Amino acid sequence: MFETLTAPAPDKIFQLTGQFAADPRPGKVDLLVGLYRNADGVTPVMGAVKEAERRILEAQTTKAYLGFAGDAAFISGMRDLLLADAVPEARIAGIATVGGTSAMRQILELVRTLTPDAQVWVSDPSWPIHAGMTDHLGLARRSYRYLDRNTNGLDRDGMMDDLRNARAGDVIVLHGCCHNPTGADLTLADWEEVAAICLKTGAIPLVDMAYQGFGAGLVEDAAGTRLLAQKVPTLFLAASCSKNFGLYRERAGVALIATSEGARAAAQGHLTAMNRNNFSFPPDHGARCVDLILHDADLRQMWDAELTAMRDSMTRNRRALADALRAETGSDRFGFFAAHQGMFSLIGASPAQVAALREDHGIYVVGDGRMNVAGLTVDNIPKVARGLAAVLG
Ligand SMILES: Cc1ncc(COP(=O)(O)O)c(C=O)c1O
Repeated sequence: MFETLTAPAPDKIFQLTGQFAADPRPGKVDLLVGLYRNADGVTPVMGAVKEAERRILEAQTTKAYLGFAGDAAFISGMRDLLLADAVPEARIAGIATVGGTSAMRQILELVRTLTPDAQVWVSDPSWPIHAGMTDHLGLARRSYRYLDRNTNGLDRDGMMDDLRNARAGDVIVLHGCCHNPTGADLTLADWEEVAAICLKTGAIPLVDMAYQGFGAGLVEDAAGTRLLAQKVPTLFLAASCSKNFGLYRERAGVALIATSEGARAAAQGHLTAMNRNNFSFPPDHGARCVDLILHDADLRQMWDAELTAMRDSMTRNRRALADALRAETGSDRFGFFAAHQGMFSLIGASPAQVAALREDHGIYVVGDGRMNVAGLTVDNIPKVARGLAAVLG
């Protein structure tokens, strides 16, 4: 069966990671994969997670199956973390998923099942899986302008103009915060505008929230999503616990639908059936850690403090890089690094410039010019600034 087939192209980021590992140059800098790293270059297990795991191991008496939707306390904890009281609980359906990727997948597959003619609007650029998954599911994909390549900020007018072409039932994929890969986020006024467009066109927003707490704070990062939830009749929400709980490989996430009270049971039934048909039961370990952390005052406080420290370190890195580039170039043209939010920034480089950074300076960013700012350290920032100034200056 496979004799005549060629393998799909391997993931480019993981390919570059292999190249980085094989690079013998001392002082090489890895700003590639989307992992938080502390100043020692380590992606730590958070203390709150370690403590939650200890408690789980001690107390757990069975590994018997849970329901298809997953742990109800985890889902309600995540619902509160994401939406607070923006929407009454009675209007929200939810399932635990296999990380944030599968939350996106369950929702998009549900869209394909229920409204196969819907178009899915994806920002240009976006996390590549948004386009890949939409295409894989055979849904029609449209792209909307997002980044102003002159300023490396949001192309607000382009985005809104494009989204005004959405049709009723179309799905608009939005990054809840810390846009991947650009780092450029919407203001609350922009979220208002998106809500107005959804109301006018009948398009349904699908918020992908993979970095809550990595931008300005847990509440601040969810403000746009909450605003949208209050205004539109239906909201899809896919959330990941990979980054803000550091649970990457445990695969914890939720898919939520905020709809009318009357429609909630149907939405819940369809979401649950989606889990059943794709993997029956979602993984439990990471979800249970999150459940414990969100519902225990001490663990929650500990987690909050650790998350704040991670966020502060990325913000410090951003400012330090912008300052170093100002000193290096004598201009403010790299000020966008400090204005962006979250773990990523697009550095505004062509593929040839990305290759030059790698080959001439040992600085590894993704091929589209995405830099993981969590990979910056006090020690490597001067080198990165010199490399960027030399290649882009
Ligand atoms: C924008 C975006 N959405 C979703 C995810 C999914 O994360 P995970 O499936 O690891 O929870 C990521 C991870 O990199 C992401 O960047």
